[in-house]
Amino acid sequence: MSCQYYDPQQNGATSFTVAMPRMTFGRGCLDELGKRTAYLNLAKVAIFTDPGLLNSAPILRACSSLDAANIEYQIFSDLCIEPTDTCAESGAEFLKGGNFDGVISVGGGSVIDTAKAALLLHAQGGKLQQYLAQPMGDGDPVHSQFIPHIACPTTSGTGSECTSMTVIRFKQFNTKFVICSPVMLPDVALIDPACTDSLPANAVASSGFDLLCHALECFTAKAYTRHQLVEEPSQRLLIQGANPWSEMVASRAIQIADQYLVRGVKDNTDQEARDQLMWGASLAGIAFGNTGTHLPHALSYGITHLMKDITTPDYQVASPFIPHGISVAVTAPSVFRYTAEATPERHMRAAALLGADSAGATDEDAGELLASRMINLMRDTNIPNGLNGVGFEQSHVAELTTSAARQKRAIANAPRDSNTVDLENIYAGALSYW
Ligand SMILES: [Fe+2]
Repeated sequence: MSCQYYDPQQNGATSFTVAMPRMTFGRGCLDELGKRTAYLNLAKVAIFTDPGLLNSAPILRACSSLDAANIEYQIFSDLCIEPTDTCAESGAEFLKGGNFDGVISVGGGSVIDTAKAALLLHAQGGKLQQYLAQPMGDGDPVHSQFIPHIACPTTSGTGSECTSMTVIRFKQFNTKFVICSPVMLPDVALIDPACTDSLPANAVASSGFDLLCHALECFTAKAYTRHQLVEEPSQRLLIQGANPWSEMVASRAIQIADQYLVRGVKDNTDQEARDQLMWGASLAGIAFGNTGTHLPHALSYGITHLMKDITTPDYQVASPFIPHGISVAVTAPSVFRYTAEATPERHMRAAALLGADSAGATDEDAGELLASRMINLMRDTNIPNGLNGVGFEQSHVAELTTSAARQKRAIANAPRDSNTVDLENIYAGALSYW
């Protein structure tokens, strides 16, 4: 590739792979669900959804569309936000008992990720931990084809409808890990921004920062050419690093966050903003599904592992609970202050895409420019002020670091290498920003 960022490296990868589902995007497209299910020759499907969505407009519209197409369905809603391996096993039991020939997920990332994990157990059996990479799991390969999965997101952040990954909280470790496989990619993504019209402000802010961090982490990730060359194409990691395809879509997602995040949070009647945020979330999902995330996501898992006695307004979830997007956002400015040293030009471009004024700035300013612009956006959208804002103090930094250090693949996807002391310094730098 001509861009200097992707210059060939000794023993580095020379190719990258792009995967995405058949995607339909647009206000009202959820009403196509019945016909799209019929096109896949599915006669009986399981609908996975959140119990809080059972009487919501998206579920009512999904069911009505399936009724109109004479598709038989049963609803599985025995799942939770921040899904556990137990939720996934319950979902697999539901699939086993119903003789379904497809799955439709209607909900946020938790719902879509539960469906993916349940489909894996349905196809291959066993316990979910078997499929977790070593040393936390057995590293068993995911090779079976799943029955078709149509993913219909109802939040504008997760991007799970566009990725081959599922994020599950493993009860044994009390923390989240990612399982990846190309067969985990949904067959169809039906993305209707009208599903986000009723989202409260804090949910738009949190999911918006998830979108933004997906895009920024893809844009600044280590180049794919700096990841190890593999001889066997099937061994190419899904976390393959920044590449020209992901760069293209992530760039636009960053601009969308700049232009529409504050509008989408402050005014729930602003349909243009909600439409654009959903489009940005889709683009960022496509980007990170083909890149992988890096330090902000890796560090977020330490936060959600160790959180105590905390809730978030607008989320009907028992304590302790920190929404995923907030857990990622609170360390992101500190991360970019650290990583900018490795690739200042990338960070400068990211800051400019996010609306920062980079006129006259030098390489040394890149990290601060991006961090400051993110902090302004956090303040404008009522995101908590760093780790202090979500209940952590300096005394928790060592424990947070020990927990997050287990996310080895994401940490290795960062543009700058880090050791334990570096991670501690990043957490310490994220205690408060204003
Ligand atoms: Fe995320």
